[in-house]
Amino acid sequence: MHHKQALKHKIFSIISQSAEELNLDCFVIGGFVRDYLLERGNAKDIDIVAVGSGIELAQQVSKNLPNQPKVQIFKTYGTAMLRFEDIEIEFVGARKESYNENSRNPVVENGTLEDDQNRRDFTINALALSLNASNYGELLDPFNGIEDLDKGIIRTPLNPDITYSDDPLRMMRAIRFATQLNFQIEKESLSAIKANKDRIKIITKERIVVELHKILESDKPSIGFKLLEKTGLLDYILPELTALKGIDEVEGQRHKDNFYHTLEVVDNITKTTDNVWLRWAGLLHDIGKAPTKKFHPKIGWTFHGHEFVGSKMVYKLFKRLKMPLNDKMKFVQKMVLMSSRPIVLSSEVTDSAVRRLVFDAGDHVDDLMTLCEADITTKNPKKFRKYKNNFKRVREKIVEVEERDRVRNFQPPVSGEEIMKTFNLKPSKEIGQIKEAIKEAILEGEIPNEHEAAFQLMLKKGKALGLTAVKL
Ligand code: CTP
Repeated sequence: MHHKQALKHKIFSIISQSAEELNLDCFVIGGFVRDYLLERGNAKDIDIVAVGSGIELAQQVSKNLPNQPKVQIFKTYGTAMLRFEDIEIEFVGARKESYNENSRNPVVENGTLEDDQNRRDFTINALALSLNASNYGELLDPFNGIEDLDKGIIRTPLNPDITYSDDPLRMMRAIRFATQLNFQIEKESLSAIKANKDRIKIITKERIVVELHKILESDKPSIGFKLLEKTGLLDYILPELTALKGIDEVEGQRHKDNFYHTLEVVDNITKTTDNVWLRWAGLLHDIGKAPTKKFHPKIGWTFHGHEFVGSKMVYKLFKRLKMPLNDKMKFVQKMVLMSSRPIVLSSEVTDSAVRRLVFDAGDHVDDLMTLCEADITTKNPKKFRKYKNNFKRVREKIVEVEERDRVRNFQPPVSGEEIMKTFNLKPSKEIGQIKEAIKEAILEGEIPNEHEAAFQLMLKKGKALGLTAVKL
C-alpha cells in the first residue's frame, strides 16, 4: 500500500533527495507512521532510519535545507538530530543489535531495514514508509503491524521475552501505549512483562517518570495503573499505591479498597482538568491510609491523620523518583494535606469555616474542590447526589465569602509597620501577636476585613498588652 499522502511535507522530499545523493536507502519509521495511520494529528517528531550512516544523511539533509540547521550528533548511539521549522528529525543508521545484560547500552552492528524493524519495541512502532524514488510512500510492514493497529493490539516483533529484556523500559512503554491508545497488550507480551518485571530496576527514575506522566496525561489513566498493578511493576515504582490494595474485614466491618477507589478518583479528575499535578494529587491523596489504618471495635476502621502522613510521604516519593521538589511537589502535598477539609465542612457550612478554608488553600481552593468532588465514588445514587450537592453549597459559599471578605491571598489590613509606628515599637513579638489577633478576628467574622475595624482592634489589643499609642 502507498501512503504518499503522509509524506506531503517538503522535508520528506529533501530527505529523499539527500539519500539519493549519498546513494543510500532511507525510511520514515516509528511514531510518525503510527500516528499518521491512526489519524492522531501531525507528529512533530520524525524518525528516519538510513541503511547506512544516519549521521551522514543528517548532514546531507542540513546542506540541502535553506537555513542549513545545526546537526546534533550523538556519537555513542550513532544518531543525529536536526530541527526544521517546528519539527525535530532524528536520524539513525539501520541496526542489528543486542544488549548487555545490565544496561540499556546496546552493542551495535549495521543491518538492513528489516533488522532494524526487528529490534524495535512494538509492531505498531516498526511500521516504515519508504522515502526512496523506486517505491516512495510504500508501507514496509514485515510483522503485520497494520493489523495490530487496526485491532488495537500491542505486540512485540520478536519473542517478547527478548524485546523486554533487551530494554525493560519497553514494559512501561507497552502499558503507556495501551493507556494512550486504549489498546490491549497481547497475552504473551503481558506474561513476559510479569516475568521480566524486576528488570525495571536498571531503568533510570527519570525515564520511568516520563512514562508515568504520559499515563496520567491520557484520557483514562486507570487503564495504565491497573496494568502496572497486574504485571507487578507498580510494586517497584509506586509501592505506596499497592499498599492501598485490598479490603479488610473485622467483626463484619469492611473498608473500601482504597487502590481502586484512588484510580476512580484519578479518572474523575481527568474528566474535569488538564492539570497533571492535580491528577498526581488524586493519585496520592490516600497514600497515608495504609500506614494509619486501624480497627476500633466501637467505631470500625479509621485512618486518623492520614492526610498529614500522606503529605509527608509525597515528599519522599517525589525524591525517590527524582521528581522536582519544587512548587509542584508542594502543591501536591498541600492538596493531600487538605483533602478532607471540604468534606468535614460540607455537613455544616459556616462562614468562618469557609473563610479558613479559603485562607489556607489560597489560590488552590478551586483545585481542592475539584479533588474533593472527584473523591465521591459512592455507587449509591442518593448519597452521590447528597455529597455533590453539599460541595455545590461549599463552592457557592466560597464565592460569597470571597467577594465579601477577600481572604484568598490574605494581606493584613494593618501592616507591621503601622503597628510599630502607632506604639513606637521596635520589631518585637507584640507585633506578631497583634497581627495574629487581627487575622483571627477576620477569619472568625468578628470584624470585617477592613482597615478601620482592624485599626480599632489593634488599639484595643495593644492596650491589653500594656502598650501606649503615641499621639500622631
Ligand atoms: N523505540 C524502541 N524502544 C524504545 C524506544 C523507542 O524500539 N525503548 C523505537 C520505536 O520504534 C519508536 C521509535 O523508537 O516508535 C521512536 O521512539 P519515541 O520517539 O520514544 O516514541 P514514539 O513511538 O515516537 O512515540 P511517542 O512520541 O508517543 O513517545
